[in-house]
Amino acid sequence: MLVTLENVPIILVGLFVAYYLVPYVQKSHLRDIPSAGFAAFTNVWLLLQARRGQKYLTIDEAHKKHGKLVRISPTQVSIADDEAIQGVYGHGNGFLKADFYDAFVSIRRGLFNTRDRAEHSRKRKTVSHTFSAKSIGQFEQYIHGNIEEFVKQWNRLSDLQGNPKTGYVSLDALNWFNYLAFDIIGDLAFGAPFGMLEKGQDIAEMRLDPKDPPKYVAAVEVLNRRGEVSATLGCMPSIIPFAKYIPDRFFSEGLEAVENLAGIAIARVSERLKPEVMANNTRVDLLARLMEGKDGNGNRLERAELTAEALTQLIAGSDTTSNTACAILYWCMTTPHVLPKLRKALDEALPKDIEVPSHAMVKEIPYLQWVIWETMRIHSTSSMGLPREIPAGSGPVVICGHTFKAGDVLSVPSYTIHRSKEIWGADAEQFVPERWSPERLSARQKAAFIPFSYGSRACVGRNVAEMELLVICATVFRLFEFEMHQDGPMETREGFLRKPLALQVGMRRRRV
Ligand code: HEM
Repeated sequence: MLVTLENVPIILVGLFVAYYLVPYVQKSHLRDIPSAGFAAFTNVWLLLQARRGQKYLTIDEAHKKHGKLVRISPTQVSIADDEAIQGVYGHGNGFLKADFYDAFVSIRRGLFNTRDRAEHSRKRKTVSHTFSAKSIGQFEQYIHGNIEEFVKQWNRLSDLQGNPKTGYVSLDALNWFNYLAFDIIGDLAFGAPFGMLEKGQDIAEMRLDPKDPPKYVAAVEVLNRRGEVSATLGCMPSIIPFAKYIPDRFFSEGLEAVENLAGIAIARVSERLKPEVMANNTRVDLLARLMEGKDGNGNRLERAELTAEALTQLIAGSDTTSNTACAILYWCMTTPHVLPKLRKALDEALPKDIEVPSHAMVKEIPYLQWVIWETMRIHSTSSMGLPREIPAGSGPVVICGHTFKAGDVLSVPSYTIHRSKEIWGADAEQFVPERWSPERLSARQKAAFIPFSYGSRACVGRNVAEMELLVICATVFRLFEFEMHQDGPMETREGFLRKPLALQVGMRRRRV
């Protein structure tokens, strides 16, 4: 056909249709899997769900409608079956993080967003000693110090601003858990807290270049925006280079947030690496451990890589913990029998004269642990199915009775697995910490609990997170009382994580 002015529209329509049909036809082996909406033809469906901040929920609904296997993009299949966890995420299966993670790269690739297997092994080797039992033991002092500051601030608020009749002061608990988690990770990963607890404000210093004068940004907000925009662009990585031209402020503000977040790491690592600071350094924190880390050839991380890894820890280790702490408070407050039982367990186990207990004091309190696990089941902050690609050159792989091929992307949706009645029983939608008692918990349930993911890309900071959550919850529930100051359930929005938007409560010092 000759290209003339008249047939340009026909050619354009033809190209447009071919663009969507070619991947569909190429993936003929996926055609028998039901598609969520028009997802089998284009990534736009997935992108739109992510842009709305409710991807986990739409995919959950698609599974309810279509069954355990659902096609959520031309190449991606969501498998809501706990049997698939081992196949998709297990050690040694050779699957790689999908190109979704390209949208999370800034400064340079870090442990979280590295896709290449050999590069990931190198980084993980360099970083994993950072999370050894010995290192974590040394981190406790920094975690403890920040929780003490948190208690100081809440005591002050309760004394000065409490309602004269009830004693309750109204606050957004999410904000305070964010200040605490950011100060802890600032202390661990950058050598000093951000000072959010002290100021009662979301604020951090940032510089895009170590030589720039400092600017101040709202770090929690920046992290939220960055998570949302990256998780949306990750659904269609081909548009990343053009994202700044999309006429939707969500994208321009999100991209600015990506830069600002990197600027926070650049500012803090430069400060910490100043010769005068290094000369007097006695700290045994995460950054100190990262600086010592060596790969298999004995090479240390160079400056940009060190900054990228410190940024990775900030991103991965801050609001994961604060969102979870906030959800724990919400579920404990809204499930009548839980708080009295938890307080009794804490009062019996902990000495009266201690405000912030040590990890050793709280790690063997079963009911405290069950409350945390039950929250991480019902409100897993990582709710989406984390996408893994079958690498080029792999032979066919059979998972849950279906054959998949190289280039296919598979994911197991945590939200759906964690609320499956088939796995957890008829009360799967209810908050029941008692289900975690060893007599009740089945081997299947234990294996289907994946808030930290599973396999070679599972959370490297899990032990730090668990220590933080145990000490934070033991402290908060023993020292303070709460009443709900908001109507309706705790609203959430999903970027990379599913985050509470707020939790308005009345808080006062506990009256025994
Ligand atoms: C309640 C708290 C936490 C939860 C629920 C959580 C959850 C997760 C999940 C689900 C992943 C896998 C992500 C993926 O495959 O895309 C992950 C990875 C990771 N997490 Fe955590 N995390 C928590 C706390 C932390 C903390 C405190 C740190 C560090 C101090 C941390 C550092 C990391 C890193 C570096 C990775 C990437 C590991 C790799 O790819 O090798 N996380 N986390």
